[in-house]
Amino acid sequence: MRTHYCGLVDEALIGQTVTLCGWADVARDLGGLCFIDLRDHEGIVQVVAEPEAATEGNAEVIAAAAAVGYEDCLRVTGEVRRREAPNAKIPTGQVEVVARRIEVLNKAEPLPFHSHENAGEDVRLKYRYLDLRTPEMQRRMRVRTKLVRALRRWLDEAGFQDIETPILTKATPEGARDFLVPARMHPGEFYALPQSPQLFKQILMMAGFDRYYQIARCFRDEALRADRQLEFTQLDIECAWVGERDVQDATEAMIRAVFREVADVELGAFPRMTYAEAMRRYGSDKPDLRIPLELVDVDALVKDSEFKVFTDWAGVDGGRVCALRVPGGASLSRKQIDEYAAHAAKYGAKGLAWAKLAENGDVSSPIAKFFADGAFAALLAHVGAGGGDLVFFGAGNYATVSDFMGAVRLKAGREFGLVAEGWAPLWVTDFPMFEWDEEAGRYVALHHPFTAPAVDDEAALRANARSAVSRGYDMVLNGNEIGGGSIRIHRSSMQSAVFELLGIGADEAQAKFGFLLDALKYGAPPHGGIAFGVDRIAALMAGTDSIRDVIAFPKTTTAQCLMTGAPSTVPESQLAEVHVQVRRKQ
Ligand code: AMO
Ligand code: AMP
Repeated sequence: MRTHYCGLVDEALIGQTVTLCGWADVARDLGGLCFIDLRDHEGIVQVVAEPEAATEGNAEVIAAAAAVGYEDCLRVTGEVRRREAPNAKIPTGQVEVVARRIEVLNKAEPLPFHSHENAGEDVRLKYRYLDLRTPEMQRRMRVRTKLVRALRRWLDEAGFQDIETPILTKATPEGARDFLVPARMHPGEFYALPQSPQLFKQILMMAGFDRYYQIARCFRDEALRADRQLEFTQLDIECAWVGERDVQDATEAMIRAVFREVADVELGAFPRMTYAEAMRRYGSDKPDLRIPLELVDVDALVKDSEFKVFTDWAGVDGGRVCALRVPGGASLSRKQIDEYAAHAAKYGAKGLAWAKLAENGDVSSPIAKFFADGAFAALLAHVGAGGGDLVFFGAGNYATVSDFMGAVRLKAGREFGLVAEGWAPLWVTDFPMFEWDEEAGRYVALHHPFTAPAVDDEAALRANARSAVSRGYDMVLNGNEIGGGSIRIHRSSMQSAVFELLGIGADEAQAKFGFLLDALKYGAPPHGGIAFGVDRIAALMAGTDSIRDVIAFPKTTTAQCLMTGAPSTVPESQLAEVHVQVRRKQ
């Protein structure tokens, strides 16, 4: 149909006749002289229909050009010539195509929206094909394609074998709800969609495959956010006969290589930080190291105050009182400070104490009155606060305080323009093995139940479960968890001990994971791996905040596909076939 792509017409083609296909991006009729910006996936080129071009059938060309509407599908044949008024903004801006023939291959009706900058996301998602047609979405999707291609190439060259694992399977717990699929041939039974290929990849190691990878779709029925979708893509990796440094060094080299290749970014060596240090300094297990602010523990400086909220938690086991200095923060109004408190409250804060230091050193703070002479000044000095600064304080249980002060740190960092340019990768290591779930009254796995503890001894693990450290690790980039993995348990007795500590009884363990416990008995090698969030890495590379921008057909935050209308009801007959009866909402 065509000889060239619109976006690739260049000066080398001057004087030649080309045939192009594309959408009419803009058509301008200047009374007898018509300009059309013709667009394909490569870009835009200007087409001109003019009376002077004394060619055969020229009147028809002008009439055709004048009738062209936005997003009509066109085929244009014409001669490339140098443009009198070049357009430096587009790569084809030195040339234009003088049309000899314009065919309308398909006329477009008036569009529901014109540019995705001024359309709401709902309308963009409903007419996703129109949104995807825009140059910006084309660019983002192309970044994703390049990323996946670069990852595959790196892994293929490093000797990893690409192996597919089932989609219709049994539940693999990763901490979310399962999507269930009724089994027509087994009334009352269900398959689960995989939350990850975790158990299959471990079993592949036991099956002798040494190094595996898969670009794997994962399904998790969980609350959606900008960085979370119900179905998303992992680059899933597993290796046999490895320790954590083997996995980390190899995948760090891989991530460095793909960033260099796809985004022309040099990430450098990744610093390493334990989970405990990350929580202490940044209040997060995925710290954004581009922001220079740090939390400072102040337990010792507040324990003798009269402020009960502080004395209740200072120096107490499981408690924390810490401060965050915001340079220049004294400019915030009371209303703005209240907004920070409201933000902290979303993360469980019961309050957010603060102190302002005026340029002349005057202190204003609702809690200064609770401190003895000089003690409050000493506290502020410890935090490093000077004239013009604001200090926030958080008190409560360790996890909650870290969480809300970490959130305050991010908000302050962004709002005060403190986020440094560039890239800040790191490894977070030494995660706790378990978290105590207050509601359920039992331990839950911080990574997943197949992660090995640092102590390779069941009795020692049982004796110290609360403080046990795992062999799990995360890769973090600019405050995003882009990958997570671990060295796995490879002995059946240890796996049983961990199930038991997680409150999974022997019978339940056998019913749910009997195949794994069996496989561990017959010569399972030490093994470990990691999975990367492909959508998250693509979003970072494409410079967008939401993974929806790098997924062709994403779901909304209310878990719907606005284009197809999924999810939807199905006929009774179809339900009957799969032996399902729906409990209608009252
Ligand atoms: P994990 O649950 O940490 O580990 O997932 C690995 C990576 O996948 C990405 N990710 C998501 N991306 C988009 N939407 C989601 N809902 C979502 N959930 C997770 C994150 C995360 O770092 N089986 C283990 C891996 C292993 O141990 O090898 C696992 O799935 O970037
Ligand atoms: P109150 O005496 O309750 O008015 O509290 C005085 C200040 O302490 C207010 O600014 C509260 O926001 C703050 N505050 C209350 N609880 C906490 C907490 N757990 N951590 C930090 N600040 C708090």
